[in-house]
Amino acid sequence: MKKKVTLLPGDGIGTEVMNAAVKLMHHVASKYDLKIETTESLMGGCSYDAHGTPLTDETIQLCFESDAVLLGAVGGYKWEDLEHHLKPEAALLKLRKSLGLFTNIRPAKVYPSFVNSSSLKDSVIRGTDFVVFRELTGGIYFGEPRGYDENKGFNTMVYEKHEVERIAHQAFKVAQQRKKVLTSVDKANVLEVSQFWRKTVKEVSKDYPDVEVINMYVDNTAMQVVRDPKQFDVIVTSNLFGDIISDIAGMITGSLGMLPSASLGEKYALYEPVHGSAPDIAGQKKANPIAMIASVGMMFDLSFGLQDAAIKIDKAIEITLDQGYRTADINLDNGNVVSTDTMAEKIIENFDKIL
Ligand code: IPM
Ligand code: MN
Repeated sequence: MKKKVTLLPGDGIGTEVMNAAVKLMHHVASKYDLKIETTESLMGGCSYDAHGTPLTDETIQLCFESDAVLLGAVGGYKWEDLEHHLKPEAALLKLRKSLGLFTNIRPAKVYPSFVNSSSLKDSVIRGTDFVVFRELTGGIYFGEPRGYDENKGFNTMVYEKHEVERIAHQAFKVAQQRKKVLTSVDKANVLEVSQFWRKTVKEVSKDYPDVEVINMYVDNTAMQVVRDPKQFDVIVTSNLFGDIISDIAGMITGSLGMLPSASLGEKYALYEPVHGSAPDIAGQKKANPIAMIASVGMMFDLSFGLQDAAIKIDKAIEITLDQGYRTADINLDNGNVVSTDTMAEKIIENFDKIL
């Protein structure tokens, strides 16, 4: 099997974690008789510096031509004062929209050796394992009209029926394979767009009679995720609410540096760590490559149908953490501090032991 992967390392620590993860990717691929051809391109601040725009048409075209896209991280202090449409973050939104990546999947899972790094106590956090399905190409992020002048600022939160239906189907399908409980998060006590969301999810639920649906307001969800995260299995929600809930979910698992994500559409798929570009530690080989590596794991599973590879990558990460290896950013319990590359090498070594 042959696959084409576009690499967009981006800014800050993006390059370092990408390099480490790509080594692991080729290593794993070789074990499954898979040949991965990679092409690298600029995106974010580095693209702005080189081309005057954070995302060129050429880069988008490359993504169209590949089986999957791996993204490191974009942004940094250097580009913070640029006009809105030239900022690295704008490139991310444009790429999501251009590739039609309407489903964002963010797992929140606690590695046992990380329980002590969580801001929650052991009894509350241990065993937490849920996944957030965030709608990614609609809602208030993209709704029109939008803007501001001297006297007012405004955005529009709007969802069309097909947009709610397609993300709901994705979440229901995964819920069926897990604990068969889906929590749909909205603000239906105040917003009409949420009432519509809730009604549409209810209609879609008829196709999945074996899945129980729990409707929860977003403010209550924020509280429940911190109070008792184990109650959740699959969460489905809109773009803005998913942005917020997934950060809370990320934090309680111990470190944002551990969490991968997948963004999927009808045709294209993009995988990226949930963390940002961490300009303060860029170039120092301190960055934690685990989220990027776990994102590669999700790619093997969801884009290449190699679930076995994904499970083994996850297991290798777990063993490496159990052995006490830590990058500087997660060295909260005085583990054995290693560089970005060494961490990836240890994970590769452990991967080979599982085979
Ligand atoms: C995320 C980020 C982005 C978002 C920003 C950088 C545009 O916070 O991926 O969660 O809000 O979607
Ligand atoms: Mn976010």
